[in-house]
Amino acid sequence: MAAKSIKKAVIPAAGLGTRFLPATKAVPKELLPIVDIPVIQLIVEEAVASGIEDIIFVTGRGKNKILDHFDDAPELEQKLMALGKEDLAKKLKKTCSLAKIVTVRQQEPRGLGDAVLSTKELVGDEPFLVLLGDDLVDSARPCARQMVEVYAEYQKSVVALMRVPEEEVPLFGICGGNSLGERTYDLDTMVEKPSVQDAPSNLGIVGRYVLEPSIFKYLEETELDEDGQLQLTDAMARMMKVEGFIGYEFTGDHYDAGDKFGFLQANLAYALKRRDIAPRLRAYLRDLVQRH
Ligand code: G1P
Repeated sequence: MAAKSIKKAVIPAAGLGTRFLPATKAVPKELLPIVDIPVIQLIVEEAVASGIEDIIFVTGRGKNKILDHFDDAPELEQKLMALGKEDLAKKLKKTCSLAKIVTVRQQEPRGLGDAVLSTKELVGDEPFLVLLGDDLVDSARPCARQMVEVYAEYQKSVVALMRVPEEEVPLFGICGGNSLGERTYDLDTMVEKPSVQDAPSNLGIVGRYVLEPSIFKYLEETELDEDGQLQLTDAMARMMKVEGFIGYEFTGDHYDAGDKFGFLQANLAYALKRRDIAPRLRAYLRDLVQRH
């Protein structure tokens, strides 16, 4: 049977961004920039570089600016052209034509599982990618592409994993399972944010998933947790028991862009890869470290 190709991606973007207040009072956290590119644009670019054609944003109150970012801006482009800034105008135009974007609104923030469930009709009956904007992965081979390739090989849902330090185990969904080969696991345990004692391993879930459409059925059957949240990990754990689930330790540098320190790390790392900024930044950082 030919491998089902993955053409749709879901990007949840309804979170309140409380960790970045006051910056996120009027600006959605997804639009905070890594150097000069909003986090969500990096995520969309990763999806597109992984074969995605249709993007479904799950948004909520105060998130309209995200759509503006991906909308055509002819007046701005014309002004840039008149100023001789053609490259910049072209860059903006490219951002608008990256993919077909649709949105679904999450009425209440009821967790990641609920955000994914709200895309059921739009996704339909095909496997799809989920990418979380808090997780940035810088890799020559985009993380989402790696996931799509693992899916093509096993034809089962796949979740991205990375080894996390013990003290960070309670911040992640954690998986356990048997090794299938280099970097791949046949998973038998998934627990959302366990204590260190209850964790089956230190293999933490990173926000890249390829899910079979049957996940919607499992989400509908899953109960809310004690905080009233529908956890995607809980539904995935149910699915795993019936259909199996592959874990994949991706290659690349991971940044938690949803955390202040991770966000700064990502900004520095991405800036140090930019030819227009890196030499000055490197010299500045050296000087700064000497002075402090
Ligand atoms: C979510 C998932 C968690 C995963 C994490 C990765 O948690 O529920 O399993 O490890 O993303 O970023 P959140 O960080 O949104 O609370």
